[in-house]
Amino acid sequence: DMAVLIEQAVPLSEWPAEFFQVSDNIQRPGLLLQQAIAPGSGLTRALARGLKETLTEIEKSGLRGRGGAGFSTAMKWRFCAEAQSDRRYVVCNADEGEPGTFKDRVLLNSYADQVFEGMTLCAALIGAEQGYLYLRGEYRHLEDKLQKILQQRRDDGLLGQNILGQELNFDIEICMGAGAYICGEESALIESLEGKCGIPRNRPPYPVTQGYLHKPTVVNNVETFMAAAAIAVNGGDWFKGAGTERSAGSKILSISGDCAKPGIYEYPFGVAIKQILSDCGAVDVQGVQVGGPSGSFISDQELERQLAFEDLATGGSFIVFNNSRHVLDVVKNFTHFFAHESCGFCTPCRVGTSLLKKQLDKIVDGHGSAGDVAALEELCQLVKNYSHCGLGQTAANPVLTTLQRYPELYQRQLKKISYEPGFDLDGALE
Ligand code: NAI
Ligand code: SF4
Repeated sequence: DMAVLIEQAVPLSEWPAEFFQVSDNIQRPGLLLQQAIAPGSGLTRALARGLKETLTEIEKSGLRGRGGAGFSTAMKWRFCAEAQSDRRYVVCNADEGEPGTFKDRVLLNSYADQVFEGMTLCAALIGAEQGYLYLRGEYRHLEDKLQKILQQRRDDGLLGQNILGQELNFDIEICMGAGAYICGEESALIESLEGKCGIPRNRPPYPVTQGYLHKPTVVNNVETFMAAAAIAVNGGDWFKGAGTERSAGSKILSISGDCAKPGIYEYPFGVAIKQILSDCGAVDVQGVQVGGPSGSFISDQELERQLAFEDLATGGSFIVFNNSRHVLDVVKNFTHFFAHESCGFCTPCRVGTSLLKKQLDKIVDGHGSAGDVAALEELCQLVKNYSHCGLGQTAANPVLTTLQRYPELYQRQLKKISYEPGFDLDGALE
C-alpha cells in the first residue's frame, strides 16, 4: 500500500518491483501524442516568431486549461505577464488526484521533455526565472527519470542560464507531494510549495497576481504545458483545426472501469460519449462518470452527449460502469473519498463530509427512513454552499446528481416501517 510505504519512508530501492511495472497502455493517440515535438523545437520556433507573437498564437489556438476547469491559457499567461512584480513563477500541477485520472502519469513517463518545454516557453513569455513541477507523492517512482531529463535539457542549453544563447534564464525544480488530494487545488499546492500545510487560500486574488511567495505565478496542468509547446511549433490554426468552437484541440482521457481496453486515449473535443465507449470495448453500460466524483455521472440515456467544456468537461477521468454495478456503491465510495480527503480547515466541509458519509451509509445499508433522504439532501446543500474551497463545494455532487437522476434507488433502500397507530416502533428497530 503506497500510503504505508511513504509514511514509513521505505527507500525507493526497497519498493516492490510490481509498483514500477505500470503500463502506459496508450490506445488511441491523437493530435498531441502522435506529433510529439523534438526537444527545443518549441522554444526555437517561439524565439524565431517573436515571444509576443507566440502568445498571440496561443491565444489564437483557443487552448483552455486541461486540469478540468478550462480557463483560457493565453489569458492566464497574459494576466501574469502584466502583473506588477520583480519576480514571476511557473508551476506545473502534476498532483493528479482526481479519482480515475492517470493521464498525467503517462504524459510525464513518456513525454516529460515536451512538458518541460511548455513550462520554459511559458517562462519566456511571462518573464519567469524559476519553475516547479509539483509531483503527486504516489508518482515518486518517476522522479529519477524526470531529474535526468531536466539535466539533459540543462546540458543541451534548454534550461539554466542563457537558454539557446539568448538572454533567457530559467530552471525547474521538482517538488514532491505527500499524498494529500487537496494539494492539487492550486492555492493549497502553492502553500505546500512554500513548505506550509496544504490549506486552500481565498481566491481571488488568483495565483496570476499573488501565487508562490505572493508573486505572480502561472499554475497549469501537465497536459496544458504539453499542448502549449506543440502550438509553439505547429501554430494556433493547427490546434484549432480539431475540436469544437468553444473547446479547441484534443483531450487526453484516462479510461478505466468496465471496458475491455482501459488506458490512455486522445480525442478531438466534441466526440460523442458513445464513440469513446465503443472504442474502449464497453458493453452493457449503465453509466459513465466523466470528470471524476466532482464531475457528472451520465446514464445510458445520455450517450449522445459530447466531451467538451460546453457539455461534459473532465480533467481526464472517464470511468465506465456496466449493469452489474450498483450506482449507490459508487456514490458511497466517492462520498467516503471526500470525507477522507477533506483538509479539515473549515467546519462545513470537515464535519459536513463526515456527516454526509454517515447519513449515506445509513440509507445505503437499509436503516434509513424517508426523512433521512430529506436530511441527506439538506446536508448536501449545506456542505455545497458553505465550504471554503472546491473540494467541499463539490463533495456532495455524487449524492446530489444521483438523488436527482435516480431517486428510486434511494427510495428502494429505505427501511420498510409504517407509523400506523399501534405500530411497535421498538420492535421494528431491533
Ligand atoms: P477555477 O475555475 O476556479 O480556476 C481555473 C483556473 O483559472 C485556475 O488556475 C485559476 O487561477 C484561473 N482563474 C480563474 N478565474 C480567474 C481570473 N478571474 N483571473 C485569473 N485567473 C483565473 O477552477 P479550480 O478550482 O482551479 O479547479 C477546478 C477544476 O479542477 C474542476 O474542473 C475539477 O474537475 C478539476 N480537478 C482536477 C483534478 C485533476 O486531478 N486533474 C483533481 C480535482 C479537481
Ligand atoms: Fe479544507 Fe474542505 Fe474547507 Fe476545502 S472545503 S478548505 S478541503 S475543509
